[in-house]
Amino acid sequence: MDLFDKTDAPQSLKLADGTVLLRGFALREQTAMLEDLHTVIALAPFRHMVTPGGFTMSVAMTNCGELGWVTDKTGYRYDAQDPITGKPWPPMPASFMALARSATALTGYREFMPDACLINRYQVGARMSLHQDKDERDFTQPIVSVSLGVSAVFQLGCFARTDKVVKLPLDHGDVLVWGGVSRLRYHGVLPLKVSHHPAFGEYRINLTFRKAG
Ligand code: SIN
Ligand code: FE2
Repeated sequence: MDLFDKTDAPQSLKLADGTVLLRGFALREQTAMLEDLHTVIALAPFRHMVTPGGFTMSVAMTNCGELGWVTDKTGYRYDAQDPITGKPWPPMPASFMALARSATALTGYREFMPDACLINRYQVGARMSLHQDKDERDFTQPIVSVSLGVSAVFQLGCFARTDKVVKLPLDHGDVLVWGGVSRLRYHGVLPLKVSHHPAFGEYRINLTFRKAG
């Protein structure tokens, strides 16, 4: 199978047990999602969070849904409140929920009800080093990742940080689902290259849906 084959029709590629790439799957909801994204970030602006080790992340983040992923000097956690505004995170927009649920239904994860959506904004040079998503309670629930705007190179690894990674270009509209035996795979994003997207400008936006609580 050619992972880099591009056609106009959405394609479903099984990359590993529990890991499926749905090429272009979010294109159908992109207009509503962009509008809803603006609503979310007006209420909970992007910010550069600090890791427990004291590093400021190059990716700017915010959240919507009942719970939001946050990091600061005290550690990583899910929190019902935005530490900047002191208010609950904005509700998960219906367009976001619909996309996450249709992607999981298609890939065999039934009844996925995300309560958290982490929104990452990458600008030129921003990257995410290899990590596992493991702050959630129930690892039987998958992660649904939606890429919008400028393309990036995603790294999909195995279960040790030093294992070999597969480099996967993720383009506007691509949805990657990982769960089951793939749930704790290491993953990351290489530094974003200079590029331009008609609707998202110089940015890449990534949404990850989780059942956190
Ligand atoms: C993440 O692991 O939270 C982000 C992945 C991505 O930006 O594609
Ligand atoms: Fe992650």
